[in-house]
Amino acid sequence: MPSLDLPDLPYSYDALDPYMSAETLEYHHDKHHMAYVVNGNKALEELEHMGDTLDEVVVNAFKAQNHGLYNNAAQHWNHKHFWNWMKAGGGGNKLPGALEAKIKEDIGDFATFRGQFIEAGLTQFGSGWCWLAMDNETGKLEIMKTANADNPLRHGKTALLGCDVWEHSYYIDYRNARPKYLEAFVDNLVNWDYVAELYDHAQLKAAA
Ligand SMILES: [Fe+2]
Repeated sequence: MPSLDLPDLPYSYDALDPYMSAETLEYHHDKHHMAYVVNGNKALEELEHMGDTLDEVVVNAFKAQNHGLYNNAAQHWNHKHFWNWMKAGGGGNKLPGALEAKIKEDIGDFATFRGQFIEAGLTQFGSGWCWLAMDNETGKLEIMKTANADNPLRHGKTALLGCDVWEHSYYIDYRNARPKYLEAFVDNLVNWDYVAELYDHAQLKAAA
């Protein structure tokens, strides 16, 4: 595949203020995400062909137990989506209908989802991510958490929503208060339209 590219943020640096500051986004996007892109490309340069798409590269790097490539490619994947999983004026319980019904069927009402998602982020020891994901075999939605760069792809699942609980994502704005950051993410930042878009895409893929 072509080399990894750092995408622009889909909004201005101060767009998510006060829930996520411009300073956090500058460091997180320009320094941390950029480092994953640079280091992922360095790892790819030394290899033959790891896949045609980023999804394939992530899964193949895991299968090959190439930790350097996996960590950087998976973090690139995670962050590419993370910027789109947030928007100004987002969050709360106004979910597109089909997605809301599916969450209700597989997980529970919005309060149950919110509680489980936040709990997964809180109980992820150290760095990592919490997720709303779809199991590719059963089609069921579930809440999960992963350590460091790991993501649902190599677990046979499709990520619909993820929250970065590495300290670099919240320490400037919330210091050590990870619960407050997770609450702000769910209540004020989630871009539910993007989550619904990924859900629709996963449905089409499952039906194909
Ligand atoms: Fe991050």
